[in-house]
Amino acid sequence: MAKDDKKNEWKEFVWNPRTREFMGRTASSWGLILLFYLAFYTFLAGLFSLTMYVMLQTLNEHRPTWQDRLSTPGMMIRPQGEALEIAYTKEDTESWDMHVQALNRFLSSYNDSEQMKKNVNCTPDQYFTQEDGDSVWNNPKRSCQFLRSTLDQCSGLEDRYYGYDQGMPCVIIKFNRVVGMYPSKDSQAPFVTCSGKRYRVGKDEWADDSEKMGQLMYFPPDGSFNLMYYPYYGKKAQVNYSQPLVAIKFLNITRNTEVNVECKITANNIPEGSERDKFAGRVSFKLRINSKN
Ligand SMILES: *[C@@H]1O[C@H](CO)[C@@H](O)[C@H](O)[C@H]1NC(C)=O
Ligand SMILES: *[C@@H]1O[C@H](CO)[C@@H](O)[C@H](O)[C@H]1NC(C)=O
Ligand SMILES: *[C@@H]1O[C@H](CO)[C@@H](O)[C@H](O)[C@H]1NC(C)=O
Repeated sequence: MAKDDKKNEWKEFVWNPRTREFMGRTASSWGLILLFYLAFYTFLAGLFSLTMYVMLQTLNEHRPTWQDRLSTPGMMIRPQGEALEIAYTKEDTESWDMHVQALNRFLSSYNDSEQMKKNVNCTPDQYFTQEDGDSVWNNPKRSCQFLRSTLDQCSGLEDRYYGYDQGMPCVIIKFNRVVGMYPSKDSQAPFVTCSGKRYRVGKDEWADDSEKMGQLMYFPPDGSFNLMYYPYYGKKAQVNYSQPLVAIKFLNITRNTEVNVECKITANNIPEGSERDKFAGRVSFKLRINSKN
């Protein structure tokens, strides 16, 4: 008996024919609830769309609104080697051929013919600004030529092996792109200098590999990134942008030993990278050139 009562009670809760209530509410009560939620969610959807719309209006397709603005951009080398280590044996072609191939691939887009096709011949030593006016979009923006031939002995054009076969390898340095960066306050272009990396040998004793590193040659000769390659307006605005490069050639590096090299950028409008951030404005790499004689 009690079991039937429970069942009836439940049935009546779901649909009570006497009061015409469904789940304890009348049809009009349910209607009001549905209406309320409909209005509520419509309002939320509207608010969301409005927010999105306003957000999208503030975005400029050709210029990132937010970017991680590193105070001091990093640098990278080519060939990258494994973990920034370039090791090979002079007499063993196979041990350095991949580095030559990597440089060939990397520099291919810098071929003079390519650059002349896609980029313009800018006035050196001054910024190449192409700001948008109030009514005109200065788009797409043009980019300056960086000719492979300016890397001279490190261009791979005359010396097809970039000196690797002679134990005088070239390493190419690039400076990470930062949209809207003006690296210099005056006409002094940022430049790269490389030296033996300092390392601790005792409590307050330091040593470096400068002697082992030997003499260097820079291309272009002052190791600079010309101002005409700045500012950079971003991938979308400057489709043909070619990052400027600096090449260094190791003329007399000590063989059969590991040499720690550090290259730094000097630019008077970029703060010097802090000691803590080991990538800011500098790049360190190891070179080990073995030779059987
Ligand atoms: C660039 O020049 C090199 C050497 O002259 C050539 O082997 C390579 O195919 C060229 N690359 C392009 C994309 O033209
Ligand atoms: C980019 O390069 C192509 C040729 O590769 C050229 O037709 C185009 O005009 C260039 N665009 C700009 C904005 O310089
Ligand atoms: C090359 O380096 C060695 C020592 O590492 C030095 O004795 C020699 O004079 C250097 N040669 C040149 C041409 O600088």
